[in-house]
Amino acid sequence: MKKQFPIEKFKKLQTPFYYYDTDILKKTLNTIANEANKYNYYIHYAVKANANPRILSIISQAGFGADCVSGGEIRAALEAGFPAEKIVFAGVGKADWEIELGLDEDISCFNVESIPELEVINQIAAAKGKIANVAIRINPEVDAHTHSHITTGTKEDKFGINFDQINKVINTLDSISSVKLIGIHFHIGSQINEIEPFAALFVKAIEIERYLTQRRIFLENINFGGGLGIDYKHPNSNPIPDFKAWFEIFHKHFPTKPGQKIHFEPGRSIVGQCGSLISKVLYVKEGSFRRFVVLDAGFTDLIRPAFYGAYHKIENLSSDEAQDIYDVVGPVCESSDSFAKAVKLNKAHRGDYFALRSAGAYGEIMAMQYNCRSLPKSYFSDSIQDLKI
Ligand code: LLP
Repeated sequence: MKKQFPIEKFKKLQTPFYYYDTDILKKTLNTIANEANKYNYYIHYAVKANANPRILSIISQAGFGADCVSGGEIRAALEAGFPAEKIVFAGVGKADWEIELGLDEDISCFNVESIPELEVINQIAAAKGKIANVAIRINPEVDAHTHSHITTGTKEDKFGINFDQINKVINTLDSISSVKLIGIHFHIGSQINEIEPFAALFVKAIEIERYLTQRRIFLENINFGGGLGIDYKHPNSNPIPDFKAWFEIFHKHFPTKPGQKIHFEPGRSIVGQCGSLISKVLYVKEGSFRRFVVLDAGFTDLIRPAFYGAYHKIENLSSDEAQDIYDVVGPVCESSDSFAKAVKLNKAHRGDYFALRSAGAYGEIMAMQYNCRSLPKSYFSDSIQDLKI
């Protein structure tokens, strides 16, 4: 399976870098488009997962919308060709300039996370003589059973408005005139690999919709957010997530009303498997109890293992020798700069190329310059052969 990596080309590039397999990305996009089209579901790619301009442009060319959480993401999405009418804007802390940008660009919807935010959007829209489309992000109090840093829909979380405040929201909406309620929005968390939390979500959504219908509010748009997980253990045999099962469960249990649109905001499930972080072995170091592989990539390039204890499959692309047990670490001056402990890898040598797989989502975009390190560059499978290097 290592053949998928053009190592000879890699040898001419400065490591570490991100390598994206555009074929996998396009196959993933085709699959999700086919599955979503069956039910007329609308997809907004969550830009936060990966805002690399080339990746964004491939996704926008496939006809998807964009889910943004900052003014910077709105700009990146527009530059990559996402039409403003397919851009939604979420986030608990939208600054005034970001709200202004959204209004000036006529984005399709603000996913509102608090009553004070609703009032500010109304003021800014009124000053511009515009009407802002808003969806209320409701905290559904559903536990996604995922890592606590990436769960968003429980009472403990800062996201969304608790349903017990919905009457206050409706009263506020009645008292302001520069916003138009066009729907509701949820997002319960990320890297969710069981269907059960999603089932709990649509049960809540049905309850909420029923209540709002009694209050004579028709929900034109219902946005179920993102969250579908990927198979970090088996990126080769399972590169495309089960979008079929994901949409099927919503379709089966959440009946769409006439004139209603259902939206999703997947991030990780679209870009996760197409990216790998490629790094070179600097040293193989014998410790008292452990054998370390010291890579030239650190948590500055891929923070997920250090930050969330996340697993990324590691492969030695340069060696077929018998396996040994290693701790794989980076060069950053922090003991948390470790990618994996006691993993089996083909025998490693200085100069070997390593791939940290499934790094397309929340990899490059979360890179940083701690220790004055450079940000990693990116290369793409469909253009690396033409690189003049
Ligand atoms: N919609 C909203 C409102 C979100 O907050 C998120 C992710 C998504 C959609 C996309 O979720 P996805 O389909 O990618 O699961 N940095 C963490 C993940 C943080 C996710 C934040 N919100 C990680 O590396 O695991």
